[in-house]
Amino acid sequence: MGVRDPAPQPVLTRLTAAAIFLVVTVDEGGEDVVRELLPDLGGLNRSVGFRVPEGGLACVTGIGAELFGRLFAGPPPAGLHPFRVLEGPVRTAVSTPGDLLFHLRAATMDLCFELADQLMARLSGVAKVVDEVHGFKYFDERDLLGFVDGTENPDGRAAGEAVFVRGDDPEYAAGSYVIVQKYLHDMAAWHAVSVEEQERVVGRTKLSDIELPDDVKPANSHVALTTIVGEDGEERQIVRDNMPFARLADGERGTYFIGYAADPGVIEQMLENMFIGSPPGNTDRILEFSTPVTGCLFFVPSQDFLDEPPPAPAAGPAHDIGDHSLRIGSLKQKRI
Ligand code: HEM
Repeated sequence: MGVRDPAPQPVLTRLTAAAIFLVVTVDEGGEDVVRELLPDLGGLNRSVGFRVPEGGLACVTGIGAELFGRLFAGPPPAGLHPFRVLEGPVRTAVSTPGDLLFHLRAATMDLCFELADQLMARLSGVAKVVDEVHGFKYFDERDLLGFVDGTENPDGRAAGEAVFVRGDDPEYAAGSYVIVQKYLHDMAAWHAVSVEEQERVVGRTKLSDIELPDDVKPANSHVALTTIVGEDGEERQIVRDNMPFARLADGERGTYFIGYAADPGVIEQMLENMFIGSPPGNTDRILEFSTPVTGCLFFVPSQDFLDEPPPAPAAGPAHDIGDHSLRIGSLKQKRI
């Protein structure tokens, strides 16, 4: 009898019209509540989503490096570490707190809201929402800069290969890594430049969404700096599901960047190109108009992992998870 392959979470859901991005921190002592919630996530999704099948409700749950060590015994996923700050000449990619990410997607906001509300009810008293963004579809998949966003996402088999962990970390197969950053746009500065100039910033045409030819596309355009090729000559891809968001009262306009990859190093290489520059100093022009105010990295375990999580860590220092601090959260008393 063969061993069943683990099933992934719904990372590869098609772009939807509505999304909620919830980043949550978990208080010391709240670990058992989270551990009890994980196997119920699938059921909660069905309770909310089954009534509206055409709504396509999907929730992806990510776990940050520090919380992972507090929740589970055994070595953590190979690529899991806190988001690394990148201090560049134009902007800094900041690193901000986040233990759990809930990426909720559906055709309509009521479904996202209802599931988010149920999740937070389960975490009530042990967790805080540190960032909440309600994203909306803006005309034909455009960001608030007016450009179509998501065109060059891989699909089909290439998408699965780009995002899911395979044999090199077998214990975490069918898992994924996700990086999120909330960007605020300087719309006045953006509107002050011509459409032709905007196209040179992005590297594609605005109305028709065609990539600029190589001899026209500037080396500091967004597309030039985020197209990366591995040592084998193959392009390294990620899957993005960015969404626009806005608040009229305080003039906030932004793009919520969310990128999934089998190896977080691929997204980190793109960020390095954007913020530090490739070559160094040749930074992404999109940053002249966009400032990240959050930055977090999470591991997205397989659905099987969530359904049957591994044991909690035994009392004693847990693993060094890459920020050179030993986690001693598991020494605390068990909640009764
Ligand atoms: C492409 C917008 C941040 C990675 C694009 C495109 C747009 C866009 C309009 C062209 C169409 C497409 O293929 O999707 C934005 C905005 C951002 C942002 C408004 C935030 C201010 C990021 C970040 C990363 C990233 C932080 C990675 C760390 C990519 C990649 C492509 C792309 C890989 C496709 C390049 C290609 O193969 O042609 N983005 N993006 N983007 N972006 Fe971004």
